[in-house]
Amino acid sequence: MNVNVIGAALIALLTFAVSPSYANEQTDERASTGGAQTLEDILARQKGLEIDDSFRRENLGQPENAAPTSSELGTLGGMSNADVYRGIRYNAVDIKVSNNGPAAEVLVQDGGMSWLLTRDNQIRSYAGFGIGGVLIALVAFYFMKGRMMIDGGPSGQTIERFKAFERFGHWCLAGSFVMLAITGLLLLFGRAVIIPIFGHQANSVLATFSIWVHNNIAWVFMLSLVAIFFMWVKHNIPNKLDWDWLKQGGGIIGNAHPSAKKFNAGQKIIFWMTILLGASVSMSGLSLLFPFELPMFAKTFNVINAITGMGLPTELLPHEEMQLAHLWHAIVAITMIIAIIAHIYIGSVGMEGAFDAMGSGQVDLEWARQHHDLWVEEEMSKASPNPSGQPVGQAGK
Ligand code: HEM
Repeated sequence: MNVNVIGAALIALLTFAVSPSYANEQTDERASTGGAQTLEDILARQKGLEIDDSFRRENLGQPENAAPTSSELGTLGGMSNADVYRGIRYNAVDIKVSNNGPAAEVLVQDGGMSWLLTRDNQIRSYAGFGIGGVLIALVAFYFMKGRMMIDGGPSGQTIERFKAFERFGHWCLAGSFVMLAITGLLLLFGRAVIIPIFGHQANSVLATFSIWVHNNIAWVFMLSLVAIFFMWVKHNIPNKLDWDWLKQGGGIIGNAHPSAKKFNAGQKIIFWMTILLGASVSMSGLSLLFPFELPMFAKTFNVINAITGMGLPTELLPHEEMQLAHLWHAIVAITMIIAIIAHIYIGSVGMEGAFDAMGSGQVDLEWARQHHDLWVEEEMSKASPNPSGQPVGQAGK
């Protein structure tokens, strides 16, 4: 199974453009070439279309019917050189190699070109348009709607929103993610953007720096992802309140302040997106960090097939596993970057008073009442050492 087929199946799952299938109407013409490929096959392949290559894949000679070595051409053992090379190309011959490793016995793997083209064309364009699009949309939103302010202004009283260890966990996750995003994008766009503008030397330095940072900072991201999960999962279980919040557009569209506990439905979406996509990007990243040691796609396709009956390929070459891990890693990372840009906007310039939650940990009481009224009630009803009976302080203290 070549990587074109797998790539197309994967990309179809993600609603990416799928190459049109190649209607193989070449049987008669192929007979005229003695079973070899036709001009149409070559032209179709150049256009990136799928071709039915069974006429080559299965044409591997006939060792079992080989002529005796004493007869004419008998020394070929039933396989011509072309048969042997086809066998090597389609991994259908039993070969011995002197180096070890799971990928060493695959001498030819022709999925590399379609992997490269998918990366250079689809992935780069979707990344560019997606990230550029969300930035333009947020700037437009800011100019249309302005900063979301605290109705009636801040109260001057504060309430503790996140403890120091929660903020530490958040900033480890955020800092590592931002560095992974920047270095990942430098690697993805190096050839297309850095080389034409700054030249090969600049790209070489940036790429060497980026891959080193990317491979090492990934551990901080993975550890803080686990910490964030355990810290906040109990506040992120979906409930009926979330549905009401979503129906009112979260107060972002319109001016309502729908009720919410510690996290509203929008934040729960960000939380679960971070956890699930973060886990997926981490697993595909580990697969890339330890080449050929942690193949995951054949096993995953097996599970998907069992659930959906989709018929995804379950026998993949080591290189195909790496190519899929790379494409998937990039697709998930770009989806996360787009969503996190929106999160950063709301958590900073987009909403008055929001940043304090992760800055000092103390938010204005009025802000908290407007966005998390039920959480404020819960905090207030907890036994409090505060003389006023309320777990609040004064702003600036
Ligand atoms: C770098 C700039 C960032 C800023 C300014 C920022 C700001 C904030 C703020 C203010 C909150 C608390 C909101 C509240 O009080 O309820 C928060 C929560 C959170 N942040 Fe960030 N953040 C940033 C980056 C990130 C990144 C990169 C991730 C994940 C990869 C992330 C994941 C989360 C999660 C899961 C929450 C809890 C759910 C939520 O409030 O949406 N943040 N962030």
